[in-house]
Amino acid sequence: MKVTLSVLKADVGSIGGHIKPSRALFDEVKRFVKEAGKNLLIDSYVSSTGDDVAILTTHERGVNDEKIHKLAWDAFLAGTAVAKKQGLYGAGQDLLKDSFSGNIKGMGPAVAEMEFEERPNEPFVFFAADKTDPGAYNLPFYLAFADPMFNSGLILSTKMGKGFTFRIIDVAHTEKDRIIDLNTPEDIYEIATLLRDGERYVIESIFSRSTGGHGVSVSTTRLHNIAGKYTGKDDPVALVRVQGEFPATGEVLAPFEIGHYVAGFMRGSHNGPLMPCPLNVTVSYFDGPPVVTGAAFCVHEGKLTEAADVFDHPFWEHVRGKISEKATAIRRQGFSGPAMLPYSELEYGGVVEKLTALDKKFKLRD
Ligand code: 13P
Ligand code: 13P
Ligand code: MG
Ligand code: MG
Repeated sequence: MKVTLSVLKADVGSIGGHIKPSRALFDEVKRFVKEAGKNLLIDSYVSSTGDDVAILTTHERGVNDEKIHKLAWDAFLAGTAVAKKQGLYGAGQDLLKDSFSGNIKGMGPAVAEMEFEERPNEPFVFFAADKTDPGAYNLPFYLAFADPMFNSGLILSTKMGKGFTFRIIDVAHTEKDRIIDLNTPEDIYEIATLLRDGERYVIESIFSRSTGGHGVSVSTTRLHNIAGKYTGKDDPVALVRVQGEFPATGEVLAPFEIGHYVAGFMRGSHNGPLMPCPLNVTVSYFDGPPVVTGAAFCVHEGKLTEAADVFDHPFWEHVRGKISEKATAIRRQGFSGPAMLPYSELEYGGVVEKLTALDKKFKLRD
């Protein structure tokens, strides 16, 4: 059967700053999805990563379905009402529009979706990251789908040996989606050229060249492009189908061992290493470090198994230790150089205002 996976994610309020949603908020979103989704969804799974709540749904309505998007929007509104009642920080933070207008994309919440013919066995991983933006997935997904140093399946599997098509979106272009399709292995230098700039060029999808199957879908919203000002980081979600014509689960996870530096961290204005963490993790040090979680499932006739927590394993404890060292290493240089994001990405108005005021005081020497 043809199934659609839709994950919709928003920060609608959290305890003690940008740390985690309250139990009451979380339970309300879950209750709402269950009740309102009765005749709409086959299955659902609600989770949190840092201060973000994600609603993963399965259904047969295809991508960009108005009813599915409205269900999530209304669930986030219900969560916001609880957040307001409890006086949570940033209640309704990611709901940038006053009323729902047909598609949740461009309204604040992050969305990743894919529709496909279910394979007899259909494993996939749902990733969610907090205190970073969609470009955070560029490097790990490039390495998992294009580099045999991380994915030896590219040389062991004839299906994967045919390569993949990367669909990359220019997130700076807001009037209309501006996208490009590039193929591995022949276009890997072109792909790398774009992906090095994760604030502008973001992997939106990856397709198998052997079967045409849709393997990856990433949320590509940039909140500051919608709101015109800082309203929180664009904490991204992603769906990745695994095995068969796609990488094995462990091949997709392998590049996350790097803990590469990504944009985000405190006030969405710094660079910090991405730390793979167990499900429902919170953030801490310097409102970070940026975290990513992974829930692996099998889906059959739209029904989800229980989640397997892919980063909850002794191996990743060692990795988290190394990544903590990377986090303190860059933090020790405070505001200087690459510790902070460039001017174009500084999301708080303060720096911009200060520079404008200082500009008038500069003098030209004769
Ligand atoms: P199993 O032999 O455990 O099924 O593993 C096969 C495989 O491809 C692991 O990546
Ligand atoms: P969020 O985008 O997760 O809400 O974090 C915002 C922030 O300013 C953290 O310091
Ligand atoms: Mg927040
Ligand atoms: Mg967040």
